[in-house]
Amino acid sequence: MHLIRRNRILRQSPAIRAMVAETIIKPSDFIAPLFIVEGTGVKEEISSMQGYYRMSIDLTVAEVKELWGLGIKSVLLFIKCKDELKDNKGTEALNPDGLMQRSIKAIKSACPDIVVMTDVALDPFSIYGHDGIVENNEIVNDPTVEVLAQMSVSHAQAGADIIAPSDMMDGRILAIREALETSGFTKTGIMAYSAKYASCFYGPFRDALDSAPGFGDKKSYQMDYANRREAVKETLMDIEEGADIVMVKPAMAYLDIIREVKDAVDVPVSAYHVSGEYAMIKAAANMGWLDENKAIMESLTSIKRAGADLIATYFAKKAAILMAQ
Ligand code: PBG
Repeated sequence: MHLIRRNRILRQSPAIRAMVAETIIKPSDFIAPLFIVEGTGVKEEISSMQGYYRMSIDLTVAEVKELWGLGIKSVLLFIKCKDELKDNKGTEALNPDGLMQRSIKAIKSACPDIVVMTDVALDPFSIYGHDGIVENNEIVNDPTVEVLAQMSVSHAQAGADIIAPSDMMDGRILAIREALETSGFTKTGIMAYSAKYASCFYGPFRDALDSAPGFGDKKSYQMDYANRREAVKETLMDIEEGADIVMVKPAMAYLDIIREVKDAVDVPVSAYHVSGEYAMIKAAANMGWLDENKAIMESLTSIKRAGADLIATYFAKKAAILMAQ
């Protein structure tokens, strides 16, 4: 054969492949989610997220230092609220001495340079396990947004760098931005969960925080997985309302959405590689059906290739360790 173009030339050795690789993941691409519980010295494995833990503040601080040492620049905090503190209005979410607020302070004082992001939604604090206030079996938008704005200010007061509203209420980004401005927090960022789908892949996360909805599902506020154009609409609105970073969630089953959003916006795009996606890889690896390390690198690279600038992933630490080898 006399071929003019031989594509295999650029695939023939690890060196050549490294030279022409289009997508390279790095530890600073990752946002490490952390689950925090009350107590000291507490480290509980989450049964549906093997190898992932709920930790008390002291152990979380040690973990954060380790993550920072591995080159990870950001953590995303979730707390497990005690049952007796839950109500319908998320009262505990505004407690200046609540678990979230204490966690933010402890992390920022031990590791001041790391970017602390905080989840803003009512579900961990809600007796109903919903992201908003419930009235007559409905999740009511406007009263919820008021609480979310106050919650965001409370996180900013504790030292959060970036507020991450995951609730999908309408108008919350503008309300949060205005509340932050009014309170003088002009350097606090907002990472909006803009295209967050009503997904079965959040199951293990809800085990982790004991936050599964007590009735119904989240389809009246989270997006229908049948929709793509709507993701762009949601995202553009959040940017208009003041989002600094936008997010698509989940990631692996939504790579088309990540690309669509990436092409439509001029702000950084993040993607959330969620708990169910973590659990699937873990389960298959445990059965000996997948090589876990290879599955991690391929998944995270695919998410970045699709257009994610940042990836929230429970594999952040493991991937950073693999990359350092
Ligand atoms: C709650 C929230 C959820 C996740 C992040 N924030 C669950 C939900 O919406 O029910 C899911 C994260 C994951 O599955 O890893 N507002």
